[in-house]
Amino acid sequence: MPSPLSGRARQNDIYSAGIHGRTPVVPTDFDELERRARHKMSDRAWAYIAGGAGAGRTMAANRRALERRVIVPRVLRDVSERTLEIELFGDRLPAPVLFAPVGAGDLVARGADRMIGHAAAELGLPYIFSNQGGVPMEEVAAEMDRVRPGAPRWFQLYWSTDDDLVDSLLQRAEAVGASAVAVTLDTTMLGWRPRDLNLGSLPFARAEGIAQYTSDPRFADIVAERAAQGSGERPEISPGALRTLFSIARNTPGSLLRNLIRPEPRVGVQTFLDIYSRPSLSWTQIESLRERTSLPIVLKGVLHPDDARRAVDTGVDGIIVSNHGGRQVDGSISSVDALAAVAPVVDGRIKVLVDSGIYSGADVVKVLALGADAVCIGRPHMYGLALAGAAGARDAVANIIAELDLTLGLAGHTSVDDLDPDALAIVE
Ligand code: GLV
Repeated sequence: MPSPLSGRARQNDIYSAGIHGRTPVVPTDFDELERRARHKMSDRAWAYIAGGAGAGRTMAANRRALERRVIVPRVLRDVSERTLEIELFGDRLPAPVLFAPVGAGDLVARGADRMIGHAAAELGLPYIFSNQGGVPMEEVAAEMDRVRPGAPRWFQLYWSTDDDLVDSLLQRAEAVGASAVAVTLDTTMLGWRPRDLNLGSLPFARAEGIAQYTSDPRFADIVAERAAQGSGERPEISPGALRTLFSIARNTPGSLLRNLIRPEPRVGVQTFLDIYSRPSLSWTQIESLRERTSLPIVLKGVLHPDDARRAVDTGVDGIIVSNHGGRQVDGSISSVDALAAVAPVVDGRIKVLVDSGIYSGADVVKVLALGADAVCIGRPHMYGLALAGAAGARDAVANIIAELDLTLGLAGHTSVDDLDPDALAIVE
């Protein structure tokens, strides 16, 4: 029986449906996927998901770095049997691919995180729960377990200014069976994002993407304390403010009516904005992580070889080479150029994952050849979600994996472990 992620099986399914005049709801290439998703997304959703920092130079660099690297196929090597399987932090995965954490997914579809969890569980691939999710991690984990008991999941952490909140989030991640925690290092402040700024749109200010906080007991204590001190004065009344108040009430647990009247929901949003990230974050906090959690620790947002070296020396279990999908620093090094410098330094001592601008199976082949152990996919699954909910998120990633399988074989390789820099050349 072919695996559901086999490239030939997927190709056959699509062509067979074509015989009956049916075409895929989720386009099989990124450009068309993005173009069609745009029509299904609100301006605010589009700005937040598709947008990058500044003039978008880092997003462009991510693509350019992949285009400069070309696959040099080998022939006559019997590629009839192929495997994409890898082992990652105790999980056997059918392909070296994870669903990246994406915040404020409710902008795209209400309950987005639950649907993405469902999609990831169907494929048996890890979903990295966003710290900025719209559904509490316990509910996403339960949904994944319904689809596939024990389906792999990770948790992505933003290090708050409140250490007790960090500990509470870590305990919850352990309790929901996370296989690892990915600590995002590159977003100690939000980057300058003109598409959101030009719409005046910060989802979190409307309580979109703060469910991990509003479901957290430590966060509830902080909010109760602040509310008792009388913070959360009623904002100036305007049509926009009323819409924001309504959004906050709707996105906070509890009755809508009560949430419109009581101060806690508004205090909750303000509290979140005040404490969710920590510009003072340093290696000191990272060094304390081992005492805080038993989970494997992965540092997300490493781009400099010296930081990679330090990560290895600090004893973490992995890094994600990432520029946050080009959303943080405009004019940053691409994640793929960074990977080319970082992978030799790490030299297999810890796991190296990569994200940012990886949109196709051929892209995955290239980054695996550069030394990545696995990749995280972000925008593609969000666009699939916009087009067809959970099935769309699943299909967007399954398409990438199908192309990975075919490209691997057509390039003359039978296992993702076989890939090394010799599989590539650089063109200027
Ligand atoms: C936060 O995760 C963001 O990129 O907006």
